Amino acid sequence: MNLNGKLAVITGAASGIGLATAQVFAAAGARVVLGDINEPAGEAAAKALNADGKSATFIRLDVTDEAGVLHFRNQVNALNDAVDVVVNVAGWSKIEAFVNTTPDLWQKLVDLNYLGTLRVTHAFLPQMIAQGAGKIVNVASDAARAGSGGEAVYAGSKAGVVAFSKSLARETARYKINVNCVCPGPTDTPLLASIPDKQREALMRAIPFRRFAKPSEIADAVLFFACERSAYLTGQVLSVSGGLTMVD
Ligand SMILES: NC(=O)c1ccc[n+]([C@@H]2O[C@H](COP(=O)([O-])OP(=O)(O)OC[C@H]3O[C@@H](n4cnc5c(N)ncnc54)[C@H](O)[C@@H]3O)[C@@H](O)[C@H]2O)c1
Repeated sequence: MNLNGKLAVITGAASGIGLATAQVFAAAGARVVLGDINEPAGEAAAKALNADGKSATFIRLDVTDEAGVLHFRNQVNALNDAVDVVVNVAGWSKIEAFVNTTPDLWQKLVDLNYLGTLRVTHAFLPQMIAQGAGKIVNVASDAARAGSGGEAVYAGSKAGVVAFSKSLARETARYKINVNCVCPGPTDTPLLASIPDKQREALMRAIPFRRFAKPSEIADAVLFFACERSAYLTGQVLSVSGGLTMVD
C-alpha cells in the first residue's frame, strides 16, 4: 500500500490516532498536512517528520470554527497541489452517565465530532468533485456500532459520522470519490488515558486480544481506505477493535 506523491490532509494530527496516521501516511510516500488546535504538538510532529526526510506541514485548525476551517482550506490550497485524501480524526469524548450530562456537553460533542467532520469535508469536497477523484476517510468509533456506556452522546455523534459517510459515498461515487469509515475500539492514546483506571481495566479484559490497539494499527486501516488498494470500496465501516465488537 502506498500513497506516493499524494497530498493528504489529516485533522487531529497532533496526537494519538491522527498523529499515527500522519506518520504512517508519510512513510507510505504521502505529503501530509497536519491540522490541529494544539499548535506546539502539531509543529513538533511536522518538524520530526521533515527531519526524517518526509514531507509534512502543520497548519492550525479548529474544526469547530467555520471560518477557521475555510481559512485552513485556503492555506492548504496555497501549497498549490490537489488534495487527494482528507482524513477526519479530530474528536473528543468524556465518560459520564447520560443522566448527569448537560446540554452544553451535548453541544460540544456534536459540534466537534459530527459537525467538525462535516465542516472539513464540505470545505474540500468541491475540489475533489472538480478533479474527479478523492478519498475521504472518517474516524468514527465502535461506540457508534455497538454503543458505549458513559458515552451516549459521543456514540450518537459518531453514529452521525457513520451515516453521513455512507450517504456521502452514495452522492460522490459518480465523481470517483471514496468515502469510508474506520471505527477504532479502545486505542492507546491520551484520550483513552483520560478515562478512569477501573473502566480501562474492564475494557482490556473484554478485548479478545487482551490489549488496546496501538494508534498505528488504526492508521494502517485508514491507509488502506486512502490508497488505491481499496478503489472499489465506498460507504464501508471497518472496526479495528481486537475483536471487542463483532456486530454486523
Ligand atoms: N482512543 C480511543 O480509544 C478511540 C476509540 C474510538 C474512537 N476514537 C476517535 O479517534 C479520534 C482520535 O482520538 P485519539 O484517541 O487519537 O485522541 P487524542 O486526544 O490523542 O487526539 C485528538 C486530537 O484532536 C485534536 N483536536 C481536539 N479538538 C480539536 C478541534 N476542535 N480542532 C482540531 N483538532 C482538535 C486534539 O488537539 C488532539 O491532537 C477521535 O475522533 C476519537 O473520538 C478514539
